[in-house]
Amino acid sequence: MADSGTEGNGTLSIKDNRTGKEYEIDILDGDVIRAMDLRQIKVNDDDFGMMAYDPGFTNTASTRSTVTYIDGGKGILRYRGIPIEQLAERSSFLEVAYLILKGELPTQAESDEFVHDITMHTYVHENIIDLFDGFRYDAHAMGMLISSVSALSTFYPEAKDVRDADNRGIQIRRLVAKMPTLAAFAYRHHRGLPVIYPENELSYTANFLNMLFRIGGRDYTPDPVLVRALDVLFILHADHEQNCSATAMRVIGSSEADPYSALAGAMAALYGPLHGGANEAVLHMLSRIGSLDNVPAFIEGVKNREERLMGFGHRVYKAYDPRASIIKKTSEEVFEITGRNPLLNIALELERIALEDDFFVSRNLYPNVDFYSGIIYQAMGFPVELFSVLFAIPRTVGWLAQWEELLEDSEQRIARPRQIYVGSDVRDFVPMEERG
Ligand code: SDX
Repeated sequence: MADSGTEGNGTLSIKDNRTGKEYEIDILDGDVIRAMDLRQIKVNDDDFGMMAYDPGFTNTASTRSTVTYIDGGKGILRYRGIPIEQLAERSSFLEVAYLILKGELPTQAESDEFVHDITMHTYVHENIIDLFDGFRYDAHAMGMLISSVSALSTFYPEAKDVRDADNRGIQIRRLVAKMPTLAAFAYRHHRGLPVIYPENELSYTANFLNMLFRIGGRDYTPDPVLVRALDVLFILHADHEQNCSATAMRVIGSSEADPYSALAGAMAALYGPLHGGANEAVLHMLSRIGSLDNVPAFIEGVKNREERLMGFGHRVYKAYDPRASIIKKTSEEVFEITGRNPLLNIALELERIALEDDFFVSRNLYPNVDFYSGIIYQAMGFPVELFSVLFAIPRTVGWLAQWEELLEDSEQRIARPRQIYVGSDVRDFVPMEERG
């Protein structure tokens, strides 16, 4: 990555009224200043210097990136410059994976090679299958997936050589290929069913559905409409710039940990209900509301801070999440096959009220990617415990693209934020007999 541009973007004049000193700070591309340029602002020469305080990184850029562009005010999302609407309409998940990982749409030959490589890496070592036997029968699929991905790092010790581009490429292809397999094995353990091995003649998404739902020797042919719907959902979840889990991937990756261990950390971040665990939380919320009659009382609960409207709100989007619009449209195609999920009526009523109620409008709270996705997943037969796993599979591509961009960025260093210490001043140790 080239260094951030400083020429010709102007400067910021800062006057420290404590000392009367004035400072000129370079403005970089895109109305950004370097935080380190604040450190020259001091009262005494031996001071540490000025820092910026930003819990939750609400106004801090951690990197320059070429992967994903979001305009939260306009509801714009583009992967490598291509609008998400066009990709959802015209592309496939593996083609979008190639675009996100390599930066360009593949030629036919490149696509054929990439699909072949992914298809040829879907199996996992048999010892990994034994690992699942160590979990309780009702273990959450995401907990099993995080553990199994981390365990994969022990099967590929060469993955530690993160500075070798070819080696990174092999590990990236392995992870993209094996995530559906591990997810399916976790699901089958949860259901007390024997695993179904990958079938190489099936597409990425059809193979995943087959490993999940085929029972015994009976043929299982997933409905092509559902296969396409899941492929579109995977496209929509593939990357989302510097979200919580991508930041976790980058922070872990900045210590040069192997990609399997970094990915396990990213998945752990995604698992939280404020992030990728929200789709599961939305389903629990809709089920708990139970009927349209209960919606007004629930909305009052949200306004009184007794409830949170899961699937609503976003740190970046202050307009409708473009992914939610596409998911809502896709849900109609799925319900044609599966029958309409009755929870959709409750979701639509919640949205109708929220889009006109000042409590939500004044806080820019709109449906995000998680609001409708769970309703589709449930209609397609996925158990709620699998929802965050269905987020993690496609987001593996985005995490790996962010990870590789970090390693290739000459400006990046090991992540080590500062703090503002507000604890005790120096004090002496107190022997036990004098405590009390
Ligand atoms: C994802 O970052 C990404 O890109 C993430 C993601 C991706 O693709 O990687 O898009 C995926 O994580 C989507 C978000 C899924 N999470 C949820 O749906 C959980 C519910 N939403 C939130 O908890 C919340 O909106 C966040 C976590 C998404 C954003 O939190 P912020 O930016 O820290 O906002 P905030 O909590 O400071 O809220 C601002 C105000 C507050 O009100 P006040 O205290 O100022 O009066 O809005 C309120 C909040 O109380 N608020 C909500 C709300 N979300 C925010 N009130 C009720 N219901 C909500 N859902």
